[in-house]
Amino acid sequence: MAATGENESLEDLTADNLTQHVINICTRNAPDDRTKELVSGLIQHLHDYVREVRLRTGEWETGWQYLTEVGQFCTPERQEMILLSDVLGVSALVDAINSAQAQSVSATESSVLGPFHNEAHVLENGESIGSEGVIGEPMLIHGTVKATDGTAIEGVTVDVWETNGNGFYDMQDPSRDGPDCRGVFRTDSEGRFYLIGVKSVDYNIPDDGPIGVMLRHLGRNQTRPAHVHFQIKHPAYIDLTTALYSRDSKNVATDPVFGVKKSLIKDFQWSEELPAVAKGYNLESSLQRMNVQNRKGLWVLEHDFVLLRK
Ligand SMILES: [Fe+2]
Repeated sequence: MAATGENESLEDLTADNLTQHVINICTRNAPDDRTKELVSGLIQHLHDYVREVRLRTGEWETGWQYLTEVGQFCTPERQEMILLSDVLGVSALVDAINSAQAQSVSATESSVLGPFHNEAHVLENGESIGSEGVIGEPMLIHGTVKATDGTAIEGVTVDVWETNGNGFYDMQDPSRDGPDCRGVFRTDSEGRFYLIGVKSVDYNIPDDGPIGVMLRHLGRNQTRPAHVHFQIKHPAYIDLTTALYSRDSKNVATDPVFGVKKSLIKDFQWSEELPAVAKGYNLESSLQRMNVQNRKGLWVLEHDFVLLRK
């Protein structure tokens, strides 16, 4: 095995032999078989793409300039690279290939993580994930986390995040100080979690960067259907990253990041039984915090999540 290139014969490289030569050079000192597989597959498919579309020099320049812009747009608060993966369907494909839940008929299906997951405060059941005066209609979000045999699971971590009623995540809005519309809960002895959020609204994925330029250029929909994200974890069960989508949204069939699955579409229901609901879920203080205690009702999103055992 030669690592330096010394004493190797030079071969004229052509469109026909270049690909195998590059694969050989890139993989011969690779540390393991998986690295070899990943690198050789990437080169093979990239080169095949260039050959198939007969990529022109100007198009190649446009491509690397575009990827440069995507990288330069990334900040700790703005992940344009994940967004690129999302809008090209790569995130959804990785999820589909790796989702243990997809192999089960009874487990809750997974959905894409998206670029807006972040650290959040641990809250008690019944608390509000919205800050004081948060923009949006109050929504009770609740359910039970169960195993596939129907047994409720206590002590499950339920990480919830969503936009405010204007369709922005806290990290997109410098005027919101600290975590807002996100929180981490634990299921009680009956496997229940319950919290006050805001009624989800459809929102445009960030369109002021290179991904927005591409979507407009292709005439694509830029609006995600209203949804709430969940990441659900327990040491004895397989992690579940998913989201629940509003049946009322016009954008469920054209989600720009391909996250919607039929089983994850829910009715976000209006309930006028606020006093009973609030009492049953110990929500009075959270609703007061949102200054909505005098409303006639609130929105309710209910869903039971089913986890797979490890
Ligand atoms: Fe989202």
